[in-house]
Amino acid sequence: MNITVIGSGYVGLVTGTCLAEVGNHVCCLDVDPAKIATLQAGGIPIYEPGLDDMVRRNVAAGRLTFTTDVAESVAFGEIQFIAVGTPPDEDGSADLSYVLAAARNIARHMDGYKVVVDKSTVPVGTGDKVSAAIAETLAERGADLPYAVVSNPEFLKEGAAIEDFMKPDRIVVGADDERAIELMRRLYAPFQRNHERILCMDVRSAELTKYAANAMLATRISFMNELANLAETLGADIELVRRGIGSDPRIGYHFLYPGVGYGGSCFPKDVKALVASGHEHGHTLQVLTAVEAANDAQKLRLVDKVVREFGEDLAGRRFALWGLAFKPNTDDMREAPSRVIVEELTRRGADVIAYDPVAMHEAERVMGDNPRLRFADDMMGPLAGADALLIVTEWKAFRSPDFDAVRAALKQPLIFDGRNMYAPDWLRGEGFAYHAIGR
Ligand code: UDX
Repeated sequence: MNITVIGSGYVGLVTGTCLAEVGNHVCCLDVDPAKIATLQAGGIPIYEPGLDDMVRRNVAAGRLTFTTDVAESVAFGEIQFIAVGTPPDEDGSADLSYVLAAARNIARHMDGYKVVVDKSTVPVGTGDKVSAAIAETLAERGADLPYAVVSNPEFLKEGAAIEDFMKPDRIVVGADDERAIELMRRLYAPFQRNHERILCMDVRSAELTKYAANAMLATRISFMNELANLAETLGADIELVRRGIGSDPRIGYHFLYPGVGYGGSCFPKDVKALVASGHEHGHTLQVLTAVEAANDAQKLRLVDKVVREFGEDLAGRRFALWGLAFKPNTDDMREAPSRVIVEELTRRGADVIAYDPVAMHEAERVMGDNPRLRFADDMMGPLAGADALLIVTEWKAFRSPDFDAVRAALKQPLIFDGRNMYAPDWLRGEGFAYHAIGR
């Protein structure tokens, strides 16, 4: 099949590349000429394990092309994926201007049946707006051409996006046009594996499914973070509680890890957007409002512990920080708890020296203007003479460091672990003062 993907960001690039990988011809469009030039030259503008090889392989095979030419991209695919950004407005609601602009561009240039697929995470009702934008633009042209609008939300985890796309748990297709449903079934046939993965539903339910999934996962995290904080006071160990409840199949083990709060491009944005969308329609989503507030507080939890140890004023203190990305295997710094933590430590007068295996470049871009923050070239770099080590992202490299070297380098053997990486008893036995989350 010939497919067009509008927007060559994270979601668009993964979607286009994976669809090419199974034999389709895919044309990826972006308005940013620098990004397209990078991609055409075999470079990848984002960090995602496995993506670079897959892009190069499909470009070499002639199945994957990149362009900035809207007319060319619209002519290319019968299926047109919209995978552009939906940044939050001031009130948290999703800004649809890029999505609607993409829809109008399709309508401006199309000359036959098109299936327009919303891949971006968009509020319920966007499918109708996309449909209206196409109808209006076609009417302006005096053209009467057939089209269908489909909602097909992505469920990609950064760092595991290729795997998630190639082996999906489910493929949600929201559509009411039979021809479009048939095309989507054919498109996704290679990803079905041994049982039916496609869930067909109406457009609005598909749109809400995406928000519901992310909101539920965010809720689990905030719930566990609150419980972890309580466990500390009560003298219980949240890790044991986590296993104790996860073993109930109705609860399950996934997404029950307490930590420094959720970040990234999806959870914070989607929870806010769902709350905003509730308000817009006269509903106060009380649970989600609390989920968000709990998460904001959790991002400062590690600093609270530091303050308990060193006092409110941290002037003259220096802290080593491991992990900047919002989670491992990505360089993504969007809504990363590390940003709030560094900001608060340095606001209180401390210096911070940070290390991250991949995200340092991004971190420098988003917080390089903080004069009290410096970056180290390697993992042991920040430790020498530091008052304590703070762990913010659970990169594998931090899992079993040379603790003798860590102890020798630090001013005192003190670790604040925001990700519960180590066994507390063992570490305390090694002479460390160890503060984790909920244990
Ligand atoms: C998420 C969803 O998982 C994905 O399905 C959706 O399409 C996009 O949003 P992503 O943002 O890449 O993906 O990251 P994810 O692995 O889900 O983690 C999100 C945040 O939650 C991270 O900050 C992570 O550290 C935190 N988290 C996750 C916890 O604090 N505890 C957990 O148990 C799990």
